[in-house]
Formats: sequence, C-alpha cells, structure tokens
Amino acid sequence: MINKSQFPILNQTINGKPLVYLDNAATTQKPQLVIDAICNYYQTINANVHRGVHQLSEQATQAYEGARHKVAKFIHAYSDKECIFTRGTTESINLVADAFVLPRLKAGDEVLITHLEHHSNIVPWQLACQKAGATLKAAAINQKGEVELESFKNLISEKTKFIALNHVSNALGTINPVKEMIAIAKSHDIPVLIDGAQATPHVAIDVQDLGCDFYAFSGHKMYGLTGIGVLWGKAALLENMRPYQGGGDLILHVSIESSQFAPLPNKFEAGTPNIAGSIGLGAAIDSLLQVGYETINKIENELLNYATECFQALPGFTIIGTAEHKSSVLSFVHQHIHPHDLGTILDAEGVAVRSGHHCAMPVMDFFDVPATTRASFSYYNTREDIDALMNGLQKALEVFN
Ligand code: ALA
Repeated sequence: MINKSQFPILNQTINGKPLVYLDNAATTQKPQLVIDAICNYYQTINANVHRGVHQLSEQATQAYEGARHKVAKFIHAYSDKECIFTRGTTESINLVADAFVLPRLKAGDEVLITHLEHHSNIVPWQLACQKAGATLKAAAINQKGEVELESFKNLISEKTKFIALNHVSNALGTINPVKEMIAIAKSHDIPVLIDGAQATPHVAIDVQDLGCDFYAFSGHKMYGLTGIGVLWGKAALLENMRPYQGGGDLILHVSIESSQFAPLPNKFEAGTPNIAGSIGLGAAIDSLLQVGYETINKIENELLNYATECFQALPGFTIIGTAEHKSSVLSFVHQHIHPHDLGTILDAEGVAVRSGHHCAMPVMDFFDVPATTRASFSYYNTREDIDALMNGLQKALEVFN
C-alpha cells in the first residue's frame, strides 16, 4: 500500500516543524514510483518520439504511447487515439474552445457554465463568446455551494450551443451530479465538456458511462508532474476539428502552399511533446490504481469528517461549502482574521494550506468573501495532520485575541 513514507518530500521540516501538506487541491506531491519513472526515462531512454529509427527513439515512443494507453484505460476511453496529451486542464479547455466551439458559434448563441467554475473554465468561454458575439450564461449555486439544477435546466434553450461544467469544485470540494447534468444537456443535443482537474485524484472516471463529449484533466493534481494533462474527446468530434496549433509531428505532408494533417491523436500534438510528463502520468495512474479509489475515498472521507467535526470546537470560523457530496476540501473563513494571516500562521507551524480566491472569484463573490483558507486532503494525510491544522488555528486565535 502506498502511504506517506513513499512521498520523499513529506519527510522534512518547515520552519522547524514536521511538514503537514494540506494544499493538495493546488498540486499533489509525487510518490517515489513517479519520481523513479521520470529518472529512469532520462537515465535510460531519453530521445524524441515518432521521429527516429534508432533504438532509443523507438523505446521512448513505446513508453510515450504506453502512457497514452494507460490514460485511455484509466478513463475508459473508446480508444487511445481519443486521448490527447496537453499541458494541462487549462490547455485542454482552450483547445476545445478554440478548435471546436468557436468555429461553430454565431452571434446570439450561448455557452452555459455554472457559478462554481475555476477561471480556466470561465475565461476561455468568455474569449470565444466575445469573438463570436455570443453570450456566456452561468447556472446559479445555493448556500451549500451546490449547483441549482433548476437554474441549470432553465438556462438551456435553443441558443445554447455548448455546456462546460466542473466535475469537482476546486474552491469548495462540491462533487457535481455531472452524469445527470450531461443527460439533461444530451436531451437537448448539446455537446458537453467536463473539467475533471479536481476529480481524477478522488473519483474513478468512466467517460463512456458519463456520456460527455470532452473530458479534461491535469497530471499534477493526481500525483503526476506539472505541465502535462489530457484532453479526451469523442473521435468523431476530434476528427472534424482543425488543429489547435501548427507545428511538427501533426502533419502527413507539408508544402509551402498547404498541409495535410496527421490522424488522431497527433493532429493535436504539435511539436516535441512532454514525453517525461506523460510517462510520469502513466506512473501516477499506476500509483492511484495501486491504492484504489475505494481506499482513497475511505481515508479522505474520514479525514474530511474528522476535520469538519474538529471545526465545531473553534469559535468564529465558518466553513464555506457544505455540499452533500464533497471531496476532501475544507474551505473556511474567520469572522475577524484574514485568510492570508491564517495561512501565514499555519505556515509557521509547518502546515501548508492555500489562502486566496482559488481562481474562483465568482464563488467568492457569491459567498461575499474576498478569499478563504483552504485545506485539501490526500489519502497520504493522517488524523495527526488534521490535529496540526487545528493546533495552528488555535494559535491564530490566541495571536489575534
Ligand atoms: N487550481 C489550483 C487550486 O485550486 C491551482 O489551487
């Protein structure tokens, strides 16, 4: 069983205190398995892919395509070629906005999101809508931080040309009923993208079962590296899209006048790809499956329940985001102490959390707070980590009293 001891970075002190890492929604730490996979790649088979007939290039290509196969199995894609390696969720969403939505969007059309989105699932749609003269609509949320399904349904009309939803909210941890929401969208024949950046570390993904058209996620949120991510899309849609970027590796033939593009997935992978990152993502998938989502959910739910319980004893704090279905995120504010002060005091205790708007300003606006402090748990966290968080918050109360 992979546990804390297999994450070398966690075995250190920060400000003279044992590190307690509770900023997993921002980025997760990497198990030795992933670090070894990267080192091994650079020490033994580093070469460019799809380009050489020499042995290293063939081995690197095999490892790169092997990682794609792992991704495809991991999310239950229909085929490997539907899995495009990108720089991360943000690039995956921009790719769809630019290469799928924008060419199909006309003045007066609408794109629908929710009020719960990360900026990376808002801004690309704003840009596309501005270019096309279309309008971006957002389904309302309630005081628990859940999407109001009635609002979502009411905002769908003949004008709605695309829907983009997060699977799990980064700011609050809300797990959205995406399968139900996709079914609603599909009853109106509207294509749907799911932003799965915060879902893959916590939820088993089956894109066939979900019924969406595109699914985007990042390696670094799920124990892989930064700078690597995936866009999954239905082959029929991807095949009818123009490339997002031009460059090498995505062509069959180029003349000065025109180019003939390679089939999927290369059509969307211009330039030398992040080979090490994709191999690291394959290893991260191995590590997640080795632990298993059942175990991950058990540990993380226990941690969330324990932390939520401990919070009742702390005066002046309010938890923001109390959805019935939540991943292991605890966002909170204090009536007098600013979230950045809380973050600084916790850091002095060796506890790493994120303070800020979490790239979800519309969520902050809804709750009428400038920012929250957010503790986000991984399966490698323990009850002792929660105790350290609570002790740090007690210290903050003492300092500010
Ligand atoms: N999106 C990342 C977060 O939620 C950076 O912290």
